[in-house]
Amino acid sequence: MANITIRPESFDDLHGIDIVNISAFEEEDEARLVTAIRHSPAYIPELSLVAEGHDRIVGHLMMFLAQLDQQSRNVNILALAPMSVLPSHSHRGIGSELVTTALEQAKKRGFPAVVVVGYPDYYSRFGFEPAWLKKLDYNLPVAKEVVLVLELEEGGLNGGGTIIYPAVFHQFYEASR
Ligand SMILES: CC(C)(COP(=O)(O)OP(=O)(O)OC[C@H]1O[C@@H](n2cnc3c(N)ncnc32)[C@H](O)[C@@H]1OP(=O)(O)O)[C@@H](O)C(=O)NCCC(=O)NCCS
Repeated sequence: MANITIRPESFDDLHGIDIVNISAFEEEDEARLVTAIRHSPAYIPELSLVAEGHDRIVGHLMMFLAQLDQQSRNVNILALAPMSVLPSHSHRGIGSELVTTALEQAKKRGFPAVVVVGYPDYYSRFGFEPAWLKKLDYNLPVAKEVVLVLELEEGGLNGGGTIIYPAVFHQFYEASR
């Protein structure tokens, strides 16, 4: 994409990331969530990505550690959230570029699957499907239609189970209810 670079966040980006999240969501909850994840064990610095254009941050996407709890095993997977693009820069493919790059990075690191709480119409274009179709439960107070999963490795979600979001994310949902 012309003039847009996707790369992992650095310390110097933090203010710019806050601005993107606050502008896109029109509230501060998601910016606070990003900060809270950064200070939690679920944080993976290389998987908090920024879209940079013309010397400023115009988009941000975070992926962090979650678990898939199955009868016989407990597997590390990734949760994607939040994701945002400056309103002045939306509808130009920046969000899609962030998701595509994030999924490539997740696959490269050997994660078997990614989960997101989001718009089914948006994430289905990247191959995400409802978690319930895979017989997966989850520990969040949200409707089953918005919990979406993507296998990065064939059969990575076979066997059903429960997606366990880390405490930091759970607290965010509890606080915003
Ligand atoms: C959702 C968001 C990240 C998309 O970023 P983007 O750079 O505009 O995305 P792209 O240009 O790659 O794709 C745009 C397409 O996404 C889809 N889209 C955007 N917002 C959507 C929404 N709320 N619901 C469903 N689809 C949506 C549309 O099909 C749009 O297509 P169009 O440009 O032809 O109208 C951005 O609009 C945003 O920051 N929104 C506010 C925060 C938010 O809701 N984040 C997602 C939380 S899951």
